[in-house]
Amino acid sequence: MTGKNKPKHPQKEPSQTHKSWQGRLTAEADEATAEFLASIDVDWALYRYDIAGSIVHARMLSEQKIITPEEFRAIRVGLEGIETDIAAGTLRMPAQLEDIHMVIESALIERIGEAGKKLHTGRSRNDQVALDLRLYVRDAVETLRAGVTALQKALVELARRQGRIVMPAYTHLQRAQPILLGHALMAYVEMLGRDDERLADCHKRLNVSPLGSGAVAGTSIPLDRARTAELLGFPQISRNSIDATSDRDFLCEFCFCCAMLAGHLSRWAEDWIIYCTSEFGFLSLADAYCTGSSMMPQKKNPDTLELIRGKSATTLAQLVGMMTLVKGLPLAYNRDLQDDKRFVFAADKAVRQSLTVAEGIVATASFRPDQIAADLDAGFLDATALAEYMVNRGVPFRQAHHVVGTLVAQAERAGKSLRELPMETMRAACEKIGPDVADYLGAANVVKRYQPEGSAGENQLDQQIKYWAARLE
Ligand code: ARG
Repeated sequence: MTGKNKPKHPQKEPSQTHKSWQGRLTAEADEATAEFLASIDVDWALYRYDIAGSIVHARMLSEQKIITPEEFRAIRVGLEGIETDIAAGTLRMPAQLEDIHMVIESALIERIGEAGKKLHTGRSRNDQVALDLRLYVRDAVETLRAGVTALQKALVELARRQGRIVMPAYTHLQRAQPILLGHALMAYVEMLGRDDERLADCHKRLNVSPLGSGAVAGTSIPLDRARTAELLGFPQISRNSIDATSDRDFLCEFCFCCAMLAGHLSRWAEDWIIYCTSEFGFLSLADAYCTGSSMMPQKKNPDTLELIRGKSATTLAQLVGMMTLVKGLPLAYNRDLQDDKRFVFAADKAVRQSLTVAEGIVATASFRPDQIAADLDAGFLDATALAEYMVNRGVPFRQAHHVVGTLVAQAERAGKSLRELPMETMRAACEKIGPDVADYLGAANVVKRYQPEGSAGENQLDQQIKYWAARLE
């Protein structure tokens, strides 16, 4: 589309590269400058939204008797043909025309003549691109939300399938307390739930029509802004043409939604990468989501998880880029804004792909109960539970904490678990400990006794699964 393979002096096709301002400016940009000015290499992806907006604008112009019904018909049919050709990849998009808006308009004029020249009545590329971006992000939000829901469902399903496996929870990546695997899976469902809410919130603020704001000050042409908004499914129109043409808050918000979401996915990916190591051996991924090594025949690498972890770098970079782009811009539209799409499209793609792959990984993953159980006594997961056992027999928690600390130290020296310590050792440390303590020690016993809502036990897991299954329907 741009550059390298093209002849240095491309054959002139006046109607295809004639720019609307060539009345005012007579000298043409050289090839390098034209390429620099152009955004067609990225913003061609807006073509569907651009055409939808143009058809609606033309319809309104005809309803307002600014153009005739025949002119509207010609514009609509012309634009639909252009849409078909772009989808088929057959429309030429010379960098000389700068962007998708000019590519479509000049193709329209070439195809339908005079009527095509009326499409831009009362409109500027400034309100046009603001509109296109809102339509693009509105769809992107919907797609991402569907991806989030699908991933949540896969996690809930896995929690149903294998959630009752007892495993260690970690803090500081050190063994902490026993939990049900499902509880860890549902933690990610919670994070994704907030991501979904954030996207829904982003949708609220972007769902405002800027169309009719013109370049910066509106227009003397009697446009019906409410009508175009209605036709495009916007519940509101913007109140201020300066703000409407230069506001990119919704893009910053969208990039933040993407960065946060990708951040959550990177945490999940990291956990599962660790679980897949030989050292842990908790998890086995389906082969389809792993790759081998060109040299080491034994390797099964979790590359998809690593790429998902890596995508959080992309999305964070896009967020910082987007926020930096708008900082310090004077009112109103400035050409800096042309580069907003590069950030937004990249963030959108990274997260969209990550969600799709993540869903597949989760749906086909299988945890390894034997491996997890084999080493469950390591790390004194039941130490807190032993202190709580003593609390239930009247020992103040601080004192119980201290006593268990000394018992853990003794057990560690002896190479034993708490469960394996002799009764005399226990009672020497605290006389409140009785033989029934055996029912309280060991990860499986501990998990059975978790009490409050939100804890890592069976009742709480059932509640979470029930809550999310209903909410995700
Ligand atoms: N390609 C431009 C963009 O995306 C369209 C708006 C151009 N407006 C202008 N006044 N040059 O920002």
